[in-house]
Order: sequence, then structure tokens, then C-alpha cells
Amino acid sequence: MSTRRSDRITVPSLGNFKKQAEKITCLTAYDFSFAALLDRAGLDMIMVGDSLGMVIQGHETPLPVTLEDCIYHMACVARGVTRALLIGDLPFGSYQLGPEQACESAMLLMQEGGAQVVKLEGGKYMAETIEFLATRGIPVCAHIGLTPQSVHGLGGFRVQGRGDEAAARLLNDAIAVEAAGASLVVLESIPARLAKRITEELSIPTIGIGAGVDCDGQVLVLQDVLGIYPHASPKFCRNFMEEADTVEGAIIAYVEAVKAARFPATEHSFE
Ligand code: KIV
Repeated sequence: MSTRRSDRITVPSLGNFKKQAEKITCLTAYDFSFAALLDRAGLDMIMVGDSLGMVIQGHETPLPVTLEDCIYHMACVARGVTRALLIGDLPFGSYQLGPEQACESAMLLMQEGGAQVVKLEGGKYMAETIEFLATRGIPVCAHIGLTPQSVHGLGGFRVQGRGDEAAARLLNDAIAVEAAGASLVVLESIPARLAKRITEELSIPTIGIGAGVDCDGQVLVLQDVLGIYPHASPKFCRNFMEEADTVEGAIIAYVEAVKAARFPATEHSFE
């Protein structure tokens, strides 16, 4: 039986999506009105990403985003949502110092912002932090592959996990974050074949962005789906306004395309 649209999505119910092979739909949002629209359109998860630094604040990277910014936008979004699971990003500098700093930041994002899951970037090296949060009842979404907060170390927004060694490292990262207690994992900009392998290996859901159609779910930045970001969007994006008359129509088209595994297509994926 597939998840009914009226049921509130919870962390434990994410496992049912994977078991029933129902794709999980997710978009970012940063304000009340769009959050309410996304929730009405049937999105399973809404993420307040630190992409807000680029698409809301106009920075070139997410690095300038503060925890206060994330809490503010998280609270705006939470007021508009009754069904979708709410994921909040821990921004750069709010968790890298260690488990206790991460825990303090996560608690603020949940208490003041209303986040139900906190997302942090990093694989194996973040396992201790993930375990610290998860054992204290804080659900964690890990984020591996292209981790935008490391953009300078990575030398740009580049595809990750190409070549046998890099692919093995990413698979190990995925296994490590699951073992540490992450509830789900975002796979960003990695070859589709590797994302499929990771998805098969893990029992927690994988949410892809530029990671091919075989992930358990998909996430995109809202501004890319609406084609309103003034700079070039990555190859893995699709402007759903091209096939819709209204914003709500575009969001529903995205939900339907992800659920039917029609998005992402090969041209949105990396090999
Ligand atoms: O910051 C963000 O919005 C994200 C998602 C797009 C995965 O990390």
C-alpha cells in the first residue's frame, strides 16, 4: 500500500517508501507561501537548504549562511507545512567543531525553527557526530558526494566519485553514515551507477540530486525547478515551468515525474 497523501510523513515512515519502492519527493523551500504550496502539491519532504545563500541571498556559495539564517527560514517554512517531513540544513561553521557544537546547533534548528531532521555534510569523518546526534533523538540526514560547503577544497562544484578509488571511498562513506545512525542520505553529483550501487547497499533511503534515477528519492532546488535562478543551473536540473501553466502545475509535474521515475532522465545524470 502506498503512503496516503494526507498522512504526515515521519522519519520511521521513510523506511516504508524504500520497502514499497515508492520514490520520495523533495524540494527546497525558504518561505511560508512556497512551503504551503509545496505541501499542498504533495511533496513528501521539504528541505530548508543552505542553498538559500545562493538563491535567496545572492552569494556565490553557501558558505556565508549562518545558523540564524537557517533558523529564520526554517521557521517560516514550518508554519506553512502540515504533511511533509521538514529537513533543515546545518550551515558551514555550525557543526564542524565536533559533536557537541553540532548537537547545540541541531537543537536550536529544531526548537526555534521546527526542523524534524537535520542535514549535515560529510561521510565517514562525520560518523562520530552523526552517532552523537542520533543517539540523542535527533534524526540526521547525511550529505555525501559533492558537498557544497567544501566547494573550495573540491575546486568547484564538480562531479564526485568518478574512478574506482573515489567510488569505493563514497560507498564506504555511505555505509559509515548509515552505521552511525543517519536516517537518510543525500547523494549529490555522483555517477548514476555508483548511486544505484549505494542505494542497493543501504537500508536507509538515498535522496539523489544529480545522482540518477535509481536513488530512493530526488531533491532539487525550488528555483531551478521554476527556472528563476538568474545564473546557469547544473545539468541535473529541469525547468518544470516549461511544461506547466502555473507554479503549482510545475510542482505537481515534478512530483509526478519523480514518482514515475521519469525524472531524472539520462541527460540529467552523470556516467
Ligand atoms: O542546500 C541545499 O539546498 C541542499 C540540497 C539541494 C540537497 O543541500
